[in-house]
Amino acid sequence: MATYRIAHLSDPHLLDLTGVPTSQLVLNKRITGFANLKLKRGSHHKPRVVEAMMDDLAARRVDHVVITGDLTNLALDPEFARARAVIERMGYSPDDVSVVPGNHDLYTGGAARGQRFVKHFAKYITSDLDVAAAHPSGPFPYVRLRGPAAIIGLSTAVPRLPLVASGWAGDAQLAALERILARDELAGRVPVVLMHHPVTNPTSALATVMRGWREAPTMRRVLSKARESLALHGHLHHRVHEVIAAEGGSTIHRLGATSASLVHHNPHAMAGYNLYEVSRERGLERVSARVWNASSEAFDEAALPQHA
Ligand SMILES: [Fe+2]
Ligand SMILES: [Fe+2]
Repeated sequence: MATYRIAHLSDPHLLDLTGVPTSQLVLNKRITGFANLKLKRGSHHKPRVVEAMMDDLAARRVDHVVITGDLTNLALDPEFARARAVIERMGYSPDDVSVVPGNHDLYTGGAARGQRFVKHFAKYITSDLDVAAAHPSGPFPYVRLRGPAAIIGLSTAVPRLPLVASGWAGDAQLAALERILARDELAGRVPVVLMHHPVTNPTSALATVMRGWREAPTMRRVLSKARESLALHGHLHHRVHEVIAAEGGSTIHRLGATSASLVHHNPHAMAGYNLYEVSRERGLERVSARVWNASSEAFDEAALPQHA
């Protein structure tokens, strides 16, 4: 079977406050996010880089595009609408685009109660198997069987207190993932699992509580049921490839994409997207990245940095 090409981008953090009264921003948790955005993000996250990325992907025609969360900043309806318009700019069929939420997409209890992510991105989270468990962000995981890949979308996004950005999937989702990996439909396919938080945590326990994912070791154990899997994430705003030797001789490729809008002096944080090629015969065959060049205003081919 032919090689299947997947483009992976993450964390566009598209801001849109159109029609949002200032009172709505200052009366709740959003003020923290808004201040954070103004102080640290406003000058670095450039929506036009995301638009240029969509045009690059429109021209290259990969087989599938995956987006691992934080499409918005404050989980507001105008932001979701803008994110949808940006995705549509690529001109891909919704069957060929898969998304999962990040902590910013479930920024408030209202965003979760209103199921805003699920409503806005319904056509990008359809499932070929009836496997979803209940989660505050909606019905996850979903499974999309595509050529040699089984694209599985998991949610680690839940509303948190201000300044806390940690992930939570829950036992029901992790058990569902374990059942999915054992299904006949998965035999011979490479599981490509989308999640916002990485399957490895910061070394500090406090950092793990504040912005990590305490279920990461459990997740690695579940993924070890597959001989080889891809665990795609965002959240760190840094591109990386780590080859994890898991239980029973299993290999987990932790693949992080940086923020799609971030203009940064660190070449590993600079906006860009990752490219993966998988086949039934050889699993993950090739990994590379396309990185924003602020001088030429185009994307250059680059190697994906290996985790040190
Ligand atoms: Fe992010
Ligand atoms: Fe995040």
